Amino acid sequence: MISTNTDIKPLDVAAMRKEFPVLERKVKGRNLVYFDNAATAQKPKVVINALMHYYQQYNANIHRGIHSLAEEATAAFEATRDTVQQFINATHREEIIFTGGVTEGINLVAATWGRQNVSEGDEIIISAMEHHSNIVPWQMLCLEKKATLKIIPINDKGEFVMDEYEKLISPKTKLVAIVHASNSLGTINPVKEIIEIAHQHNIPVLVDGAQSAVHLDIDVQDMDCDFFVLSSHKIYGPTGVGVLYGKKELLEEMPPYMGGGEMIKEVTFDHTTYNELPYKFEAGTPNIADTVAFKAALDFVNEVGKESIRAHEEALTKYAMEKLSGIEGVRLVGTARHKTSVVSFIVDGVHPQDIGILLDNYGIAVRTGHHCCQPLMNRFEIPGTVRASFAMYNTKEEVDELVKGMEKAIKMLK
Ligand SMILES: Cc1ncc(COP(=O)(O)O)c(C=O)c1O
Repeated sequence: MISTNTDIKPLDVAAMRKEFPVLERKVKGRNLVYFDNAATAQKPKVVINALMHYYQQYNANIHRGIHSLAEEATAAFEATRDTVQQFINATHREEIIFTGGVTEGINLVAATWGRQNVSEGDEIIISAMEHHSNIVPWQMLCLEKKATLKIIPINDKGEFVMDEYEKLISPKTKLVAIVHASNSLGTINPVKEIIEIAHQHNIPVLVDGAQSAVHLDIDVQDMDCDFFVLSSHKIYGPTGVGVLYGKKELLEEMPPYMGGGEMIKEVTFDHTTYNELPYKFEAGTPNIADTVAFKAALDFVNEVGKESIRAHEEALTKYAMEKLSGIEGVRLVGTARHKTSVVSFIVDGVHPQDIGILLDNYGIAVRTGHHCCQPLMNRFEIPGTVRASFAMYNTKEEVDELVKGMEKAIKMLK
């Protein structure tokens, strides 16, 4: 798992930490150890400043105004679209649709492409490790259309059973919707292979990039996915902004999601014609400030360098897995060969929430519970896990704090 490329520039983590003001705060009298990055990442000063600058200098509604502030706001908003296009290597800028996040992006596809293309008796394939956001919208669609959800099983390490995936494909399969990297196990799924197989049967594929966009290099052209969704807040950007990428020819065929301002060309009481891409899917005043600041987050990540971030996070993950699995009673959940920086574990006989509460007393923020993956927890026959997830600003010393905290917590709870 560790990168062996010696050309990768090591991160100056101490300097990096100074860019994230929240890391200076104390929790319960201790230095904050923030290991809940898979839920949301902390925000660097450049993002916070971009938000402030927008509101202090050029807050205006976009696309509609001809005054200077409206033009500046529009230019900044559209500049984020260009940066996202580059970040995921989309062919066209109009393939980038701004949403409120991954959840909205998936619901958009289910409600538009799904309603248009899925009929009674059809099948949609998802996997056993999906987040509820990539289960429930498809379940709702299946209920409406009398279609069926099929589930790719996973093995005990938390990896797709690829033979079973191939067996699930049938002439009735209309879509494959899978997570790129699991939020609860960290598993990086072989999306290229999954897409290639689906495409051999002319089945489009949606990839949930909520957890992958921050860690992996995303190239939607190379991946050849038909839809890709991401959330800004997982990539050090503000909450309330996300992206739906779709292949232009698919987006053009799809009906709009919400009706309202901006998504129209012409409205009469008899008839409405819709705007061109991407505006057809961006009804109403969007989340302008957060979208503008999202660009600052992407620029920041690009400047630090994803390769360097990844090498640092991989080293931390390996170290944490070694240290945690050495503690008596701790069992790792999710030991796939290819993982992002997520370490999930349970302690036999102890509820994950009790551990989470004790760790918080030591200033350590982890997530406990089912991580919005209840079917996955059922698959492992556990109520939930304790999840530590690492970002560019985390350190080995913080992992040592977690290990110490775990040893103390286990002594108290067992
Ligand atoms: C894998 C995965 N999919 C979907 C989501 C939903 O993302 P959001 O809450 O930003 O819409 C998350 C959030 O944790 C996630 O980890």
